[in-house]
Amino acid sequence: MIKINNIHKSYGEKNNQFEVLKGISLSIEEGDFVVLLGASGSGKSTLLNVVSGLEKPDSGEVFYNNENITVLSDKQLTEFRKKNIGFIFQQYYLLPNLNVEKNVKMGADLTNNKEYEKIIEAVGLKEKRLKYPHELSGGEQQRVCVARALAKKPAVLFLDEPTGALDEETGRLVLDYICSLQKKLNFTIIMVTHNANIADMAKTVIRMNSGRIVSTHQNQIQKSAYEIGW
Ligand SMILES: Nc1ncnc2c1ncn2[C@@H]1O[C@H](COP(=O)(O)OP(=O)(O)OP(=O)(O)O)[C@@H](O)[C@H]1O
Ligand SMILES: [Mg+2]
Repeated sequence: MIKINNIHKSYGEKNNQFEVLKGISLSIEEGDFVVLLGASGSGKSTLLNVVSGLEKPDSGEVFYNNENITVLSDKQLTEFRKKNIGFIFQQYYLLPNLNVEKNVKMGADLTNNKEYEKIIEAVGLKEKRLKYPHELSGGEQQRVCVARALAKKPAVLFLDEPTGALDEETGRLVLDYICSLQKKLNFTIIMVTHNANIADMAKTVIRMNSGRIVSTHQNQIQKSAYEIGW
C-alpha cells in the first residue's frame, strides 16, 4: 500500500514561490488502477513525480508499505525506484541506437529478469524485436516503453499521459495491453491523463484542482479500452 501524507511542494525563488501541491493526502491499495484527472497546471505530474520518488516534497511523507521514502538519500531513492517503480511518459524515450529487444532488456537487467522475451511477446512485438525505434509507429514505440517498464516487474507502474501522442486506435491498443498485463502481473497503476473517458477504465478516480485533491471516486464497473469513449 502507498500512503501519502500532507504533501506540500513549491517551485521558484523565496519571494516568488508558487505552491504546486497544497497538502495532498491519499492511500492507494496494492493492485489498484488509479486515474488522476485535472486541468493543465493543477499539479498532476508533480504529484506523480513526488509519489514515484523522482522528486522530493518540501514537506509531508510518502510511505510504501511501511517504508518512508521521503527520508531516503538520493542514492537510496534511485535504488528504490530501480527495484520497485516503472515509468511511462507521453514521449517515448527509447534509446534510438538499440533495437526493441535491447531496449526492453535494459529494463529487465535492472532487476536481473531473464524472461524479458515473454513481455515483448505480450505487447505483440515479437516479430519486430530486431527493429530500431525509428522503424516503428508511435503506438509500437509506446508498447516498447510498456514492455521496458514492465520487464523489471515493478510493483507500481506510473504513467503520465501515455496516450497523449497517440491516435485513438493505437491509444486504445496500448491501454488494452497495459490492462491485460495488469490482470496477469497484478502491479499497481497510477495514471495521469487529460482524457476523462479513460477514467472509466480505472478502479479509483482522483480529481485534482490547483494543487489539491477535490474528489476520490470508486468505479463499480471498470470498462475496457474498447468500451470507453475517446
Ligand atoms: N520544475 C519546475 N519549475 C517551476 N515550476 C514548475 C516546475 N514543474 C512544474 N511547475 C509548475 O507547477 C505547476 C503544475 O505543474 P504540473 O506539471 O504538475 O501540472 P500538470 O497538472 O501535470 O499539467 P499538464 O496537464 O499540463 O501536464 C505548473 O504551473 C508548472 O508551471
Ligand atoms: Mg503533466
